[in-house]
Amino acid sequence: MSLTDDLLMLFGKSVSRDPQGLAARLHFFGSVPVDDGTPFPVYAASANEHNPPLDAAVLRPKVVALVSFNGGVGRSTLVTALSSGLQRQGESVLALDLDPQNALRQHFGVDSQASGIGTASLLNAPWQQVRQAGFAGSQVLTFGTTTLQQQENLQRWLKREPRWLAQHLSALDLSARQTVIIDTPAGNNIYFHQALSVADVVLVVAQADGASLGTLDQMEAALAPYRHGERAPRVHFVINKLDEGNAFSLDMVEAFKQRLGHAPLEVHRDMAISEALAFGTDPLDSHGMSLAADDIDDLCRLLKAPKKAV
Ligand SMILES: Nc1ncnc2c1ncn2[C@@H]1O[C@H](COP(=O)(O)OP(=O)(O)OP(=O)(O)O)[C@@H](O)[C@H]1O
Ligand SMILES: [Mg+2]
Repeated sequence: MSLTDDLLMLFGKSVSRDPQGLAARLHFFGSVPVDDGTPFPVYAASANEHNPPLDAAVLRPKVVALVSFNGGVGRSTLVTALSSGLQRQGESVLALDLDPQNALRQHFGVDSQASGIGTASLLNAPWQQVRQAGFAGSQVLTFGTTTLQQQENLQRWLKREPRWLAQHLSALDLSARQTVIIDTPAGNNIYFHQALSVADVVLVVAQADGASLGTLDQMEAALAPYRHGERAPRVHFVINKLDEGNAFSLDMVEAFKQRLGHAPLEVHRDMAISEALAFGTDPLDSHGMSLAADDIDDLCRLLKAPKKAV
C-alpha cells in the first residue's frame, strides 16, 4: 500500500479504488464551525429564481471567488497575483476584499487609512467612492479598517440581506468585459455565502497538507447547494505553495487527486511571492519568480474562458 493510501486511510477511507471520490467522505474532522452558531440560508437558487432582473445586471462582469476553510493557504496572495496577471493579459480587473481582516490592503500596498467597503456599506455609501488603484492597471476595493462592533453590525445586516453583495456589484455598473476577483475570510461564514451567491468561478484554495485535505468534505458540502441550475459556478481546486522538492507534499497532492477524482491545479511555493507581500509590491513584477509565475499565467488563462451563458 502506498503512502497516499495510508494517508487516505488515516482520514477515514481508502479512495484509491473510487475514482469519482464518491465513497471518500472524510468525516474525520467533524463539522466546520459557523461564526456565531447561526445556520446560514442558502441564497443561490432562490435569489436567481425570484429576482431575475437584478441578477441579469449583476452578471455582466465575470465574478471569481477564492475560498477555503483553512486560514493562511494563500487566498489573498492569489487574488492579488491573479488580478495583476489577468490585467496584464488584457482583462479589466476589480479585486474585492470581503474579509474584515482587511489584509488585501497590505497585499496591494494601499494606505492603511484608506476607507473600504466595510464602513461604506454601513453608511449606505456607494462602493465606487472607495475604489483604489491596484497593480498593472487593475483596481481594488479593500475592506477597510472596522471596529469589532462595526463588523458585528455588518454581519447581522448581511444575514438579513442575502443580496447585499449582488446589489453592490450591480451598483458598480461593471461591463461584461470586466472581472471581479473576490477574497473571502477562511471558513463557512456569511461572506463565503455572499460570494458564492454571485460567483461564476470558484477557486477552492488549499495547501498540500492534512489540514486542507481534512476540510474537503465540508467544503464540498458547503458548495453543493450552489452547484445546481444554470447559474452554477465552475469550481476548481488549487493547491498553493506547492514544494515539489518535498516528498510529503507530492504524496498529499496525489491524495487530493484521488479524493477529487481529478488533478488539482497547482501554484508553486516561491519566496518572491512572500517578499512581494512584505513590500506591498506586485508579485508579478519580481524577476526572481519562475515556476509560480507560469502557474499564475496558466490560472489566468483558465479564468479568461467565457463564462456560462445565462
Ligand atoms: N505561492 C506562494 N509561495 C510562497 N509564499 C506564499 C505563496 N502563497 C502565499 N504565500 C504566503 O503565505 C502567507 C499566507 O498567505 P495569504 O495571506 O495570502 O493567505 P490567506 O489564505 O489569505 O490567509 P488568511 O486566512 O489569513 O486570510 C503569506 O505570507 C504569503 O506571502
Ligand atoms: Mg487572506
